[in-house]
Amino acid sequence: MRVNIDQAVSLLNAGDVVAVPTETVYGLAASLRHHEAISKIFSLKGRPSNNPLIVHLPSADQIELFANHPPPKCEKLMQAFWPGPMTLVLSINVESVPAIARANLSTAGFRVPAHPLTHALLERTGPLVMPSANLSGKPSATCAAHVEVDFGSDFPVLDGGQCVQGLESTILMWHKEMWKVIRLGALSPETLEGVLGYLPEVIGAEGEKPVCPGQMYRHYAPKANLKLAKDIPDDATGVVLGFSDRVYGKSLRVLSMGRIAFPEEVAQRLYLVLRQLDAEGIEEVWVDMNFPETGIWLTIRERLYKASGNSP
Ligand code: TXA
Ligand code: MG
Repeated sequence: MRVNIDQAVSLLNAGDVVAVPTETVYGLAASLRHHEAISKIFSLKGRPSNNPLIVHLPSADQIELFANHPPPKCEKLMQAFWPGPMTLVLSINVESVPAIARANLSTAGFRVPAHPLTHALLERTGPLVMPSANLSGKPSATCAAHVEVDFGSDFPVLDGGQCVQGLESTILMWHKEMWKVIRLGALSPETLEGVLGYLPEVIGAEGEKPVCPGQMYRHYAPKANLKLAKDIPDDATGVVLGFSDRVYGKSLRVLSMGRIAFPEEVAQRLYLVLRQLDAEGIEEVWVDMNFPETGIWLTIRERLYKASGNSP
């Protein structure tokens, strides 16, 4: 059910959950003030309670209400990339974020989204927690119709059109005296380097413990079996997730992720084509992995590996 911004504000302020657009992916929002709504997010998504949520703020200056001792260059990062697709995990004053939202950690993730509709919404509701608006394990939703596939046509959705980025935010954490990427996302490590003065390392685990709890789980996965290949055999048959400006064997039907010359286009379309596999009931698909390993391609590559159930 599509709702307008006034209805979304009323629902959120009354303790309901509403799907809202952001420039990265759609989020399943609840007010930070309504603990029951936050708990409802976990049950709606089928999300494990040890996987914390990101707190979304209307503006960067509100970070003062939450974070204690922001690490070096925190201010610079916020100035450069907020509003935008960057999440910072910061040590917090624990009273400021309900324990259920942060999975009992003493840190929380924060982001100021750039979508104008969400910004207007946040100005009226105050901080909102939101995970991506998909059932746990499924590809994230990048348009209102995807949210309705996962949660039903009666579910309230604020329709903000197709997400511009199409991939989740990049998550950064201060770790051993450096900023590290704990989840690749829409903002590339090279872009962050421009502000940090060093290329941030991408880290998965600290010993046995994952630094980003969400990375433990299978993700972004359609029902289809994804056959990832750098060289797709000439005699391959069936369907290939490929590029519209590349030529494939005659026996293959191409589902286009976009043009190889335009990685931003591929990023924007990635979850849309992964969801199309399920919509068409496709059981097996080749995936053309012959693309660069820099910039936003790193995220696209990681998401395709995760979607296939393998590790990169
Ligand atoms: O672009 C995005 O980030 C979207 C939109 C809606 O803002 N949100 C999103 O949320 O992707 P979600 O819940 O699907 O992913 C959040 C990730 C999870 O992997 C979670 O484990 C991690 O952020 N996370 C949240 N708080 C954390 C914390 N305190 N420490 C480490 N990881 C954290
Ligand atoms: Mg998610």
